[in-house]
Amino acid sequence: MQLRNVSPDDLDAYVRMRCDPVMMADLGGPLPLEGMADKVLRDAQQAAADLAWFKMIVPDPASPDVVAGTVTLWSHDTDDGPISEIGWMVLPEFQGQGLGKRAVRALLEQARHQERWGLVHAFPSTSNAASNGMCRSLGFRFLSEVAVTFAGRVLNTNHWIIDPGKDVN
Ligand SMILES: CC(C)(COP(=O)(O)OP(=O)(O)OC[C@H]1O[C@@H](n2cnc3c(N)ncnc32)[C@H](O)[C@@H]1OP(=O)(O)O)[C@@H](O)C(=O)NCCC(=O)NCCS
Repeated sequence: MQLRNVSPDDLDAYVRMRCDPVMMADLGGPLPLEGMADKVLRDAQQAAADLAWFKMIVPDPASPDVVAGTVTLWSHDTDDGPISEIGWMVLPEFQGQGLGKRAVRALLEQARHQERWGLVHAFPSTSNAASNGMCRSLGFRFLSEVAVTFAGRVLNTNHWIIDPGKDVN
C-alpha cells in the first residue's frame, strides 16, 4: 500500500466515492456530480502546495492508477479554534481488507514528524460501525457525541482524538 497526492486524474474515483448513495450513506447522502471536477482540482492544488494532505490509497505501487480510496488530513477553524482533522473513504471492492486502517496509520505516522498538525480529530457518524471500529483499533480516544455540519448537512458524529506522536497502534 502507498499513499500519493490526489491529482486531477482522480475525478472518476472522487465521483465513485462522493456521488454514490451507499458510500455516502453515513455522510448525509450522495453529493451532486456537478461539483466534483472543481473539488478534485481544488484538492489537487492544495495537495501540491502542501496546504493539506489529500492522499489517494494505492494498494499496489506497480499499478499507481488503481486507487482504493482516500485519506485526508487538513486544518480548519471551529468555534473552539483551529483543529487538525482526518477523514477517509475506501471503495467497496477494497473494504474489509485492512487497507483503510493501514492508510490512516501511514498518514498519522507522517504527521508525527511535523509539528504543524498537533492533536488529530476524527468525526465519523455515530452509525458508521466501520469508521468507529477503525478509530478504536488505531488508538483514537473517544471524547463525546457531537453534531457536525458536513456539506450543508448536520450529522450526528462521534468525536475521537489522537496524538500521532504517542498513541498510534
Ligand atoms: C469506513 C471504511 C473507510 C473502512 O475501511 P476498510 O478498509 O474497509 O477498513 P479496514 O479493513 O481497514 O478495518 C479497520 C478496522 O475497522 C474494523 N471494522 C471494519 N468494518 C467494520 C464494521 N462493519 N464494524 C465494526 N468494525 C469494523 C476492522 O475490524 C478493523 O479493526 P481491527 O484491525 O481491529 O480488526 C470503509 O468501509 C468506507 O469507506 N465506508 C464508506 C464510506 C465511509 O463511511 N467513509 C468514512 C466517513 S467517516
